Amino acid sequence: RGFLQVLGRVTLVSILAAGGTFYYVAHKDRTPGEQLPHDPTKKTLVVLGSGWGATSFLSKLDTTDYNVVVISPRNYFLFTPLLPSVAVGTLGPRSILQPTRYVTRHKARSVAVIEAAATEVDPENQTVTFSDTSEVQGAVSNTSIKYDYLVYAIGAETQTFNIPGVKEHACFMKELDDAERMQRRFMDCLESAAFPGQSEEEVDRLLHMVVVGGGPTGIELSGEIHDFLEEDLRSWYPELSQHIKISLVEALPSVLPMFSKKLIDYTESTFKEAKIDILTKTMVKEIKEKSVVLQGPDGVKREVPCGMVVWAAGNTLRKITRDLMAKFPEAQNNRRGIVVDEHMRMAGVPANNIFALGDCTATSYAPTAQVATQQGHYLARILRQIAKQDKIKEDIRALEQDSTEGVEVEIKKKALEKQLEKVSKLKPFEYSHQGSLAYIGSEKAIADLPFLSGNLATGGVATFLFWRSAYLSNLFSLRNRTLVASDWLKTKIFGRYVSFVL
Ligand code: FAD
Ligand code: NAI
Repeated sequence: RGFLQVLGRVTLVSILAAGGTFYYVAHKDRTPGEQLPHDPTKKTLVVLGSGWGATSFLSKLDTTDYNVVVISPRNYFLFTPLLPSVAVGTLGPRSILQPTRYVTRHKARSVAVIEAAATEVDPENQTVTFSDTSEVQGAVSNTSIKYDYLVYAIGAETQTFNIPGVKEHACFMKELDDAERMQRRFMDCLESAAFPGQSEEEVDRLLHMVVVGGGPTGIELSGEIHDFLEEDLRSWYPELSQHIKISLVEALPSVLPMFSKKLIDYTESTFKEAKIDILTKTMVKEIKEKSVVLQGPDGVKREVPCGMVVWAAGNTLRKITRDLMAKFPEAQNNRRGIVVDEHMRMAGVPANNIFALGDCTATSYAPTAQVATQQGHYLARILRQIAKQDKIKEDIRALEQDSTEGVEVEIKKKALEKQLEKVSKLKPFEYSHQGSLAYIGSEKAIADLPFLSGNLATGGVATFLFWRSAYLSNLFSLRNRTLVASDWLKTKIFGRYVSFVL
């Protein structure tokens, strides 16, 4: 009895301590303190974007060194790896976004956050022009800002290869709006199929879901659609669920080329069991309102009826990035993106004051969140060092302008020059690959992980739990972790919604 009493007390104290800590952290997060004001003597650092690169940069940046201005058409960070889960309602949209001000309000010096899209970068005059692209606009909706340093992290957009009908008829999977649009379209297809008097052929068409692109986005999305079907739609649409068909179209001979052969085989066999059709060596040639035109390995084109097409065929550069690169045609000659040096500086810019990172750059790394995050953290350190350099240079200039001559001034100057030499040595960026993970549906995931200087390729339910815990810990805030964990629990207990409410 004594032991049980002690155990009870220890448990109670632990619960109270954990609850108290949780409340304290959440409360601290919600109540940011005073910030240093804008300082006209400091340099202006403009950050374009609020995605992986920009947010990880901001999270580590020491803002005492600069007046920082963030410009992005969305005023939040989006945790893209969990976007396919939002598309089928496993997670709520707010669970995977973090307002940018939740990051910037905790910085030492206040940061200006402007919801706008940059439309032009002028490296000669060191300005960025930007416009308010939202539905509601004030009297001023277009202006320019001068920068001393520019961090360019505007990502990429979805590649359509100008294939007819993609923009008009397909859903994308890049932004939160895309996930919501797909969810609405998917539910509309179901309800239209349930409309009285629909022929069996029309029901089959409406319930044929085509995912284009066998990269990780297409695979994860197909897996999520399959889970929605198995775990929810079979219960609520029993008469229709057997008509739902998922096809994944990939132009290359196999899906997931970045994963090991073993994991590609595992994914293909999991999809086979889940009755998801994988059509490899098949190109989408056109998308029509009610069908998709495919060209298979035999070169023959055929038109396949479908209710929804989701386009996940990779990245391409944004227009503003192409325009910026065109200003330095000799140095910027890589069609994949901005060429940067080992310190993430855009090549060819005479003032050497534009840094680019993430999906808009052409490096030897894949365009992933992992790379953009490490680049962001690295760049925050580099800009700290550059601020130190600038400060020492200023002090040297002040000494040089000082009219007093003498040994003491000379000694001071020498000491400053020595310091400058020390802080001028910038370490190059080095990427450390932590492995690749992807969810493939049916509560299974695959992982290619660096392990004991080799590689560990693993797939299955245990990997799925690892996938979940890895993403949970990678979320930026306690708020997001709590929301995502509770969404997973809610979905497990109550299932997903089958009504779409905006
Ligand atoms: P983004 O994160 O795309 O950010 C770009 C930012 O620029 C956005 O805030 C955007 O609003 C802003 N912007 C756009 N235009 C302008 C403009 N004109 N002016 C100013 N700002 C602008 N990678 C992984 O490593 N693991 C994963 O599991 C993973 N899953 C993914 C799942 C999906 C569905 C998708 C689409 C991608 C996934 N990725 C994953 C890839 C990862 O999301 C990208 O590599 C990463 O977002 C790149 O970061 P970024 O900062 O370069 O660009
Ligand atoms: P992707 O570029 O990796 O894959 C796109 C696929 O679409 C390619 O395999 C391509 O062959 C195919 N394709 C292109 N045009 C086609 C056509 N007309 N018909 C048929 N197939 C066509 O793009 P994805 O999946 O969006 O990924 C983009 C980046 O984000 C990648 O670097 C990826 O590694 C990363 N990412 C990583 C994830 C993870 O690690 N879990 C999840 C999602 C994305």
